[in-house]
Amino acid sequence: MNLRPVKKCTRCLRLAVLFLFFLIMTVPAGNTQTLRQLADRHGIFYGAAVGSAFWGADSLYKETLKRECNIIVAENVMKFGLIEPRQNQFNWTRADDLVSFALKNNMKIRGHNLVWHSQSEWASKVNGSRDELIAIMRNHILAVAGRYKGKIYEWDVVNEAIDDGNGFLRDTFWKQRIGDDYIDLAFRFAHEADPEALLFYNDYSGEDMGAKSDKIYKLVSGMKQRGIPIHGVGLQCHFTFGKFPKAEDIDKNIKRLAALGLNVSVTELDIRMQLPADSAKLDEQGREYQALMTVLLNNPACKSFLTWGITDKYSWIPQFFKGYGAGLPIDEKYQPKPGYAGLKTALQEKTQDRK
Ligand code: XIL
Repeated sequence: MNLRPVKKCTRCLRLAVLFLFFLIMTVPAGNTQTLRQLADRHGIFYGAAVGSAFWGADSLYKETLKRECNIIVAENVMKFGLIEPRQNQFNWTRADDLVSFALKNNMKIRGHNLVWHSQSEWASKVNGSRDELIAIMRNHILAVAGRYKGKIYEWDVVNEAIDDGNGFLRDTFWKQRIGDDYIDLAFRFAHEADPEALLFYNDYSGEDMGAKSDKIYKLVSGMKQRGIPIHGVGLQCHFTFGKFPKAEDIDKNIKRLAALGLNVSVTELDIRMQLPADSAKLDEQGREYQALMTVLLNNPACKSFLTWGITDKYSWIPQFFKGYGAGLPIDEKYQPKPGYAGLKTALQEKTQDRK
């Protein structure tokens, strides 16, 4: 009796079972489409900030980025003090790695950021004249935005320049040494370095209607009037569970910015909660993720939606907000949370083509 065909069949069966197992392990539970695929369908960019784990041994980190994101942003390595650690000495290695990873995997890149009061070490200590500080800023912007010219989709040119108190502009070393026009200058230099990149002003706590978003609106509408090359506003969206703004107020704010001819991106979303998390809080967080994605999808001016990290395992939250965490749509074990499901529902429910 010839047993060979049966043997062959058993081997086929084994292979098929193995393949099925592989599929189940690589696709998030309960669904076949990833956020990246759904975002692609709508012509929007969904992604996350990429932190130091990128260079570590955690292979799931890059796999998850590739599967879920069609845009990424550096959590730190493009910031002033990291990419130019000493005056006119640039450390490109990590930023270059990230850029080539994104391009290789067909992802867009957000550049974060060119001018900020924080993580700018040596520059903040230069006690120079207006002209000296302008030269430092220009040299930095031309070098960094120039190196990645044509590769960055959106640049955060100036980050967090609005005052949280009663003032208008935050009293940063840039403002003190250069004057209020440092923001206009930064955008002009960025445009000179990379005329194709979309140039953004990025800030926190200005997502809905209120005093801070009024000031952001005032800043960017002034820039538009002066002919400054600004193309968008980044809403950081570092929210706290229980204080999620009303979706209709975020929508209103986006619409007034869009009426100026600006794009609006969700740039650093997370919704932190007091630990331990529980299923009721995570479910509510899921609804908040869904609500924000729905607002974005209903506004053609919104093209990018990024969370500040891809997994709770490496989020900045526990380090910066004691006792808080669980802010992202994917947990420490790389399992999708209700936030992930919420984003997905919003993307699936939107049937009207945005492309
Ligand atoms: C944070 C990073 O996540 C941390 O790793 C770093 O130590 C400090 O900066 N708003 C911003 C981001 O624009 O650049 C900040 O990122 C989070 C708040």
